[in-house]
Amino acid sequence: MELNFQNKVVLVTGAAGGIGSCLIEEFTRTGARIYGTDIIAGPSENYFQGDITDVTFLRSMVERIINMEGGIDVLVNSAGICLRTPLKDITRKEWELLMDINLTSVFLLTQLVVENMKTQGSGTIVSLASVAGKVGGIIAGTHYAVSKAGIECFTKSAAKIYAPYGITVNAVAPGIIDTSMQDDVPADQMSSVLRSIPMQRAGTAKEVAATVMFLASGLASYITGQTICVNGGNYM
Ligand SMILES: NC(=O)c1ccc[n+]([C@@H]2O[C@H](COP(=O)([O-])OP(=O)(O)OC[C@H]3O[C@@H](n4cnc5c(N)ncnc54)[C@H](O)[C@@H]3O)[C@@H](O)[C@H]2O)c1
Repeated sequence: MELNFQNKVVLVTGAAGGIGSCLIEEFTRTGARIYGTDIIAGPSENYFQGDITDVTFLRSMVERIINMEGGIDVLVNSAGICLRTPLKDITRKEWELLMDINLTSVFLLTQLVVENMKTQGSGTIVSLASVAGKVGGIIAGTHYAVSKAGIECFTKSAAKIYAPYGITVNAVAPGIIDTSMQDDVPADQMSSVLRSIPMQRAGTAKEVAATVMFLASGLASYITGQTICVNGGNYM
């Protein structure tokens, strides 16, 4: 048994980020026809630069990929922002921006790709949740934690609705992963968080990508509605 995405059409959001760019590399290595999107310029040839909160952009990107490839087999929702504003200081505007980027984008893109997946009779959606969504945040803001808990519930709901069509919907909940998302955490605070993790270290983008790719592959054909933790034992 091995991971094989030969001729599978894969769309990854947040493709310029630490986890997203690793996914682009690994999916490409395993034969996928890979497409990436991010608000900033990215590493892939088949790349759509745009804002994940802009539904017109999302619709035209999905239509273009389906026109070129005939369908989309795998959607990975990795775009996200992590804000750490204390609850008392979060404005409605900031709350809505974070929800739009982290959670509403998952809903919109699922809606946009799923009709084609239903016609194909197959498809896989994997979204990046977080340990923050399970415990209410460790070093992230309330809005971030809520958006990630929302992804878990969205995942279960969509999994139930689309299972009869051969579509699986799952999530991966990383703990502390060594990407630029954690760059703003003061070093002393990060050291104490890392000491509290049973494995005493941050995870790597590759360790998250491996779980995303397993869930997106035929190896996980009987797994749906699940959120798999990748956290060094940080949350059990
Ligand atoms: N790094 C961690 O410790 C960690 C832990 C738990 C969950 N996650 C989740 O994993 C996912 C990937 O995180 P990462 O570590 O690669 O972070 P990252 O910051 O390296 O990547 C996130 C990407 O999302 C993109 N993005 C942000 N706003 C956007 C917008 N409006 N439109 C389009 N793209 C936008 C960014 O440009 C960036 O490239 C995120 O959803 C994050 O919440 C990360």
